[in-house]
Amino acid sequence: MFSKEIQSALNEQINSEFLAWYTYLAMSSYFKSVNLNGFARWMGKQAQREMAHAMKIYEFLHEREAPVGFNSISEPAVDWRSPLDAISEAYRREQESSGRINDLVDLAMKNRAHATNTFLQWFVNEQVEEEARLRAIVKKLELVGDDRYGLFLIDRDLR
Ligand code: FEO
Repeated sequence: MFSKEIQSALNEQINSEFLAWYTYLAMSSYFKSVNLNGFARWMGKQAQREMAHAMKIYEFLHEREAPVGFNSISEPAVDWRSPLDAISEAYRREQESSGRINDLVDLAMKNRAHATNTFLQWFVNEQVEEEARLRAIVKKLELVGDDRYGLFLIDRDLR
C-alpha cells in the first residue's frame, strides 16, 4: 500500500504528463499552422508519448488499488515566436520533468517503496531519451539560425 504522500505525488505526475500532452498537441497545431508538417508530425508523436506516460502511472495506481485523481489541465499556449522558441520550451519542460521524476524517486526511496522505485526507473531512462531528442533539435535550429532552407531541411527530416 502507498503512503498518502506517494499516492498524491503520483497523481500530480499524471496531471503533469497530461499537461505535457496538451502542450505538445498545441505545439503540433502551431507547427501545422505555419506549414512545418514534419515538426507537426514529430510533436504530435511526442504528445502521444506523454499520454502514454500518464496512462502508465494511471495503470500502476490501479494495480496498487490507489485512487486516481482527475485534476484540471491548464490551458496551454497556442502560439510561439518561432520553431526554436517552441522546441526550446519543450526542452525546458522535459528538463523540469526529469527533476520531478527524480524527486519522485527520492520520495519512493525515503518511504522504502521499492516497487514504486522500480516502476519509476523506466521514467528515469525515458527522460534521458526525451531530453536528448529535444536537445538535438534545439541545436540544429540554433545552427541554421534564420536560414529558411536549413529549417526546410530539418522539417523534411523530422518524422
Ligand atoms: Fe512524460 Fe516527456 O515526459
